[in-house]
Amino acid sequence: MSPSPSLLAPVVLAAGQGTRMRSRVPKVLHSLAGRPMLAHVLETAESLGSETVHVVYGFGGERVAQALAGPSRRWHLQREQLGTGHAVAQALPAIEDAALVLVLYGDVPLLRRETLAELVAAWPEGGIALLTARLEDPTGYGRILRGADGSVERIVEERDATESDRAVDEVNTGILVARAAELRGWVAALRPDNAQSEYYLTDCIALARAAGRPVTAVPARDPEEVMGINDRVQLARCERVLQGRMARDLMQAGVTLRDPARLDVRGRVQAGCDVEIDVGVVLEGEVRLGDRVRIGPGCVLRDVTVEEDAEILPYSVVEQARIGPGCRVGPFARIRPGTDLAGTVHVGNFVEIKNSRIGRGSKVNHLSYVGDTEMGAGVNVGAGTITCNYDGAQKHRTRVGDDAFIGSNTALVAPVEVGRGATIGAGSVVTRDAPAGTLTLARARQTTVPGWQRPRKPRS
Ligand code: UD1
Ligand code: CA
Repeated sequence: MSPSPSLLAPVVLAAGQGTRMRSRVPKVLHSLAGRPMLAHVLETAESLGSETVHVVYGFGGERVAQALAGPSRRWHLQREQLGTGHAVAQALPAIEDAALVLVLYGDVPLLRRETLAELVAAWPEGGIALLTARLEDPTGYGRILRGADGSVERIVEERDATESDRAVDEVNTGILVARAAELRGWVAALRPDNAQSEYYLTDCIALARAAGRPVTAVPARDPEEVMGINDRVQLARCERVLQGRMARDLMQAGVTLRDPARLDVRGRVQAGCDVEIDVGVVLEGEVRLGDRVRIGPGCVLRDVTVEEDAEILPYSVVEQARIGPGCRVGPFARIRPGTDLAGTVHVGNFVEIKNSRIGRGSKVNHLSYVGDTEMGAGVNVGAGTITCNYDGAQKHRTRVGDDAFIGSNTALVAPVEVGRGATIGAGSVVTRDAPAGTLTLARARQTTVPGWQRPRKPRS
């Protein structure tokens, strides 16, 4: 049966202390692919289409609720962590009887939407659907105990298990589906009579069976999906799995990755056709790459749009910028927020550009700083040109007209304007506007002193 999404009530358990992380940051806020691990779970839950996602968070975890607030998210405080059953009980009063509760864990972030949809579809009327997994090493997990007829009878936690229970390799992932009406009754009947003196949600299975209700186990097709995060080793392992997935998606969408294991995506990437990404690249935030864009080794791009046929050469860092079509940036370039490069602009090595618009076909090829500048098209900026945009108190703008030529080692002291087609002699310190179409020199005149003698060291 497939219930309508509005009847689905995901409940995400996120109140655990996460002591094994050895961190001052709540476990579920540790980042995975650039976002808190809990954000991944919430987004997967929301993708199922339910109106509200319930989150159970722990005492002192207000930070969690603040960091991940959202209009469809309802937060339930569990003051004391008395077990998974007790955690679910915190959210149940806010859920109507007819709703199907989907229990998720904040520290199991790799689950796919499709897997959850399958679990929901497998829910047996009046009973429980349970996501299980077969693991080579089931240590630490609750084990699924089946009867002679193969039906699920109960779950036993590792700490309460006998030797023969522990030999079972089918484990409880903790993810389950049950209707709120029945779940309410079972949760209320839980007793903390176990090794950890906790209210185990898992005991609902035996309670359901005792009431003659069906329990359907749905084995996860990919055990990687149900990996949980308890420490930083597992955090790193999940990061790799997630990175592997995103790399695969990009390749399937037509992107060439020189080595899928050496790309890190910490956000969202939209890529056109025949994009090529070399090794050691980090893409953060929202990154859009047009057709045939090439990204060289070691580049870092954050919140960037790179348009078609542009190339980012090795070891460049580009942040909050637009790189127009056919541009060539780098190697070793730094493009800072507010930069907009029109088409076919060249920015070379050891060039920094900040909060500037550079017109079509202009070149800033070597060792320059361009900040707070409006530059026209076809401009040539010589090596070592610096815009002096800051006087210690305020930032000022520099304007450079189309087809201007700025000689090497020029200082443009803003506010200042270089007119269209103007030429600035190398080594100039330009403090006043340079008129269009003229040559401006602002440097000491060269003199030669004939007959001058270089001092000599006295002979000893
Ligand atoms: C739980 C299951 C176990 C399963 C395993 C899968 C129970 C009793 N056991 O064990 O069968 O194999 O998950 O990973 O359910 N939480 C709260 N409040 C609490 C206790 C826990 O919100 O009072 C949250 C935790 O933050 C976590 C989740 O519930 O997200 C699981 O809790 P945890 O203590 O890690 O359970 P396990 O011992 O791993
Ligand atoms: Ca756990």
